[in-house]
Amino acid sequence: MIKYISVIEGDGIGPEIIKQTIKILNAIGLKYNHQFFYTKVLAGGSAIEKFGDPMPKESINSCYKSDAILFGCVGDPKYDNNDLGNRPEDGLLKLRKKMDLYCNIRPIKSYPEIDNDAYHINNQKLFSNVDFVIYRELTGGIYYGKKGRYNNGESAYDYCSYSKREIERIGHLAFQSALSRKKKLTLVDKSNVLETSRLWREIIKKMWCTYSEVNLDFLYVDNAAMQIIVNPKRFDVILTENMFGDILSDESSIISSSLGLLPSASIGEKISLFEPVHGSYPQAKGKNIANPLGCILSGSMMLEYFGMVQETKLLEKAVRISIKDGFSTKDINPNSYKNTDEVGDYIKKLILSS
Ligand code: IPM
Ligand code: MN
Repeated sequence: MIKYISVIEGDGIGPEIIKQTIKILNAIGLKYNHQFFYTKVLAGGSAIEKFGDPMPKESINSCYKSDAILFGCVGDPKYDNNDLGNRPEDGLLKLRKKMDLYCNIRPIKSYPEIDNDAYHINNQKLFSNVDFVIYRELTGGIYYGKKGRYNNGESAYDYCSYSKREIERIGHLAFQSALSRKKKLTLVDKSNVLETSRLWREIIKKMWCTYSEVNLDFLYVDNAAMQIIVNPKRFDVILTENMFGDILSDESSIISSSLGLLPSASIGEKISLFEPVHGSYPQAKGKNIANPLGCILSGSMMLEYFGMVQETKLLEKAVRISIKDGFSTKDINPNSYKNTDEVGDYIKKLILSS
């Protein structure tokens, strides 16, 4: 296959983790006879620097022309005092909205290969054999509602709204995912307080008629936040709105042991984007210490999206072997850790020699 990929390195550790991911994708390409063509696109702090805009038109246009977007991470403390709308993170928010990347998929798995202290809370192995996936709505809700100040700037508001269409389209994808997995879907909301949450429940309940094989249940987000820690095995597919999904996915990273391991896919109707869940980790920039696995596994989700089943399996297997063999960064292997590029090189070697 030939695939055109827009690559956004972004800020902080972005260039380093993207470099490893491209290395791995090229190894997969070599092994399976695929050609991947990459176009580098500016976004975040580097785009503010050059264009005065965290997501310039040139970048959006370039993304439209590709088969998928591979995204590192954005965020730079240098711009902390910029107005809302002109911070590096706004570049990502703008791209999600413009490209209509409405469905963010964040798989959460435990890694038996990692000696995770958190597995032993109350002497129970709470986090072993966990495997669930978060379907986070990504282009609506409070993130995108009208915001502002009044009362001479002493009061502020962020408006949260959802439409039937926005809920239904991600609802279908979440139900379908449940059908292909353990057939359980949990809608996480705050319908004891919020009207938008009541709409979510109403619509998802109605949709259930067409997915009656799925075991559907509901949890308030505060309770869900606790269940993720005390009983994570109860989950299969979690469906939730934008901000709840943001918070719950960072929380869930403790199950995998490090936020640096979590990948994600943001699915749109025309194009999709693949990015690690973590941020730009500016303190680690240029030090060759960042965990590249969240980004590499996002690359693997991209291969899956391209329909490359064997390729995805091989890449995921190579990642697990690299962790088992101790080729991993300090966040998951504090005693005998490796550098970012040593991890990438090892996974590349595993792929080419398999
Ligand atoms: C994420 C990030 C973003 C979000 C930030 C960088 C805007 O935290 O992808 O989870 O809040 O969605
Ligand atoms: Mn987040």
